[in-house]
Amino acid sequence: AVGMEETEFDDILDDWFIESLKTYRDLYVYQLEQPTKVIEWTSGKSVCIAGYSSSKNEIMELCLPPKLFADENKALCAERDFRVVHGGLTDGPVHCLRHIPGTRCVVTNDGRSSDLQVWELEGDNSDVIRRTGSLEGRRGVSEGGSRIAAQCSLSQPQVLHGATSSDVQLTQLTSGQPLFKLETTSADPLSSLQFVSDSVFLASCCNGSIYITDIRISAAPQLFPPPASSGDSTLWWTDATAGLSTCKIVRLSSFGQVEVSDLRNPGRGAVSRAQLDIQTHHCNFDNIRVSWAPVLDGYIAVSGFGGTVQIYNSSVWRSELQEAQPLFEHRGHSVSSLSTDGITVTSHVWHPEWPRMLLSAASDSSVHVWDWIDPSVSDGN
Ligand SMILES: *[C@@H]1O[C@H](CO)[C@@H](O)[C@H](O)[C@H]1NC(C)=O
Ligand SMILES: *[C@@H]1O[C@H](CO)[C@@H](O)[C@H](O)[C@H]1NC(C)=O
Repeated sequence: AVGMEETEFDDILDDWFIESLKTYRDLYVYQLEQPTKVIEWTSGKSVCIAGYSSSKNEIMELCLPPKLFADENKALCAERDFRVVHGGLTDGPVHCLRHIPGTRCVVTNDGRSSDLQVWELEGDNSDVIRRTGSLEGRRGVSEGGSRIAAQCSLSQPQVLHGATSSDVQLTQLTSGQPLFKLETTSADPLSSLQFVSDSVFLASCCNGSIYITDIRISAAPQLFPPPASSGDSTLWWTDATAGLSTCKIVRLSSFGQVEVSDLRNPGRGAVSRAQLDIQTHHCNFDNIRVSWAPVLDGYIAVSGFGGTVQIYNSSVWRSELQEAQPLFEHRGHSVSSLSTDGITVTSHVWHPEWPRMLLSAASDSSVHVWDWIDPSVSDGN
């Protein structure tokens, strides 16, 4: 806190820590050398992260504190530290990183070109994360860089990548062979790429529209229209739940509006809408993240508008726009940072199986793993 006496700051921190004993089941913090804007699960207990400064950056696999997963003898488990298990160096920034399921490989993009770098997390009994190759993108230069999705289909690792809707390509990891190219007439910057089944993927554009593509069918992609409330300068971020038959889409705007819709019913409009309780003035749009909880149906997490991560239960929203208050807010990054001006959460991810566990990272190089207690669930589960 700028201009605040140190003791005053300590008091605020103490208050927050005391409060946190009641609001978190678990909370562990770690300090990196450089901040990261990528956090990717490589197993249920480890993540891959990497820096985004303009020159060299560390890329590493971090093991979460063993105490977090100690079930019966939690009190006896003393190991409360994150541990670096594998590490390496990149030549440039890392703006996007994906782990390829079923392998020990990750692919990254530097935000400057559409090419991807391929990394092996370990090999030949070594702790070193090694660059093993690259995949060529369809455009030379691409402002904002490529989005990446990965899957392992028929035991063939495949990477979907592209910077705009006109240069999305599915590439086989081992051979670099293009397997599929998305053909569209306009070239809109992408906010994300995501598989919703083995053969269907979504290419979500920053203008709010979404291309739904089945790679087995040669027909043109289906275009899911942008939210009705979208103005010309509105940017949108998208996440979809897995599973084609029940797929729900959430879109978050640069003005803090959220729309939930049903993938099978593009014409029906929003299932529900809300105006979130966030400040949208001073944010860096690179950091905005919105994600569905993998276990808790209808829960979403939002970050990047400031120093907090917010959790909302979208099931309580209706189709008319209403103001929504977060169910829970992780303020740990901003509370424990000495500089209150400009600290931003750079990324968050839900644990794939533990219902209320998330990881988040911030611009002050902090990484937190936290398991929150739902205030709306009385037994504290
Ligand atoms: C947004 O992108 C879609 C798909 O590329 C394009 O067809 C549409 O014209 C764009 N919409 C707006 C409002 O700019
Ligand atoms: C979210 O809200 C809905 C509607 O009030 C409620 O039925 C549901 O139990 C809540 N979800 C969770 C996971 O608690």
